[in-house]
Amino acid sequence: MLAFVATALTLVSCGQKKETPKVLVLYYSQTSNTKMVAQEIANRLKADVEEIIPLRPYDGDFQATIERCMQEREQGIKPEIQPVATDLSKYDIIFLGYPVWFGTYAPPVAAFLAQTDLSGKQIVPFCTFGSGGLESSTKDLVASQPKATILPGYGVRAARMAAVSKEVDQFLKANGFLEGDFFQPEDFPEQHAVSEEEAAIFDAAVGDYPMIHAQATTVASRNLPDGTEYFFTAVDLPREPRPDLSDDEKSKMPPAGELQIYVLVANGETPVFTKVIR
Ligand SMILES: Cc1cc2nc3c(=O)[nH]c(=O)nc-3n(C[C@H](O)[C@H](O)[C@H](O)COP(=O)(O)O)c2cc1C
Repeated sequence: MLAFVATALTLVSCGQKKETPKVLVLYYSQTSNTKMVAQEIANRLKADVEEIIPLRPYDGDFQATIERCMQEREQGIKPEIQPVATDLSKYDIIFLGYPVWFGTYAPPVAAFLAQTDLSGKQIVPFCTFGSGGLESSTKDLVASQPKATILPGYGVRAARMAAVSKEVDQFLKANGFLEGDFFQPEDFPEQHAVSEEEAAIFDAAVGDYPMIHAQATTVASRNLPDGTEYFFTAVDLPREPRPDLSDDEKSKMPPAGELQIYVLVANGETPVFTKVIR
């Protein structure tokens, strides 16, 4: 079950003796973004770290990786991975990290989850992505490990790796893994129809991102210490069907859907989107 509760890093066992839970950071990373987040978490928590390594690495370029994944998906194949060397039974909390591929955790992590029973563990997902996928991958994680407690996770866009150090620090403090002050934003107020000015902020944030072709409909915003965060709802705009597609192929194109897009406008800076939820 998703437990949206802060986890104190100190457990009280019988007899009032305090024990510090053992934390493992376990991750897969193809191009080092997730590795960077893993190291940041491990350094701050002084936790042990292990990398999940596929026997046949995904060492091709983006297009080659997409093609290999599509083939594996069509054939229902999960990649073989090296056995995880760490004795997982020694850990209470596992930070599980992955790049989002096709809306969920990358196949080496899917392979790890398929062959490992994490019942009784607390799992903190963390991920990096082009546009989003923390929510969808967390849902898959809950389904894959029904007897583990899946705690709120952290996700960051590959384009915003410069924000990782500060955000991980805040995330760990806000969720009780580290002591120290953190900023707790207010809840977003109710959504209202976007003004021209807000639509311009939305367009500036997502304008040249190839995977998003959407129009903002409603928005709510809240103050952050160094700027404003906007929470937009948007609709996918119909794409011009490629002229070479047959009528049958055109009719199979997905319908326009609703998106939720978070945008950050730091004081004096260009708007950037922080995540998309589809
Ligand atoms: C095969 C493949 C599929 C991907 N699919 C998605 C996706 O569905 N959504 C997304 O936001 N990003 C997607 N990405 C982008 C990666 O999640 C992103 O580049 C990530 O930061 C890579 O992490 P890494 O450096 O740890 O490997 C995909 C990348 C690859 C190679």
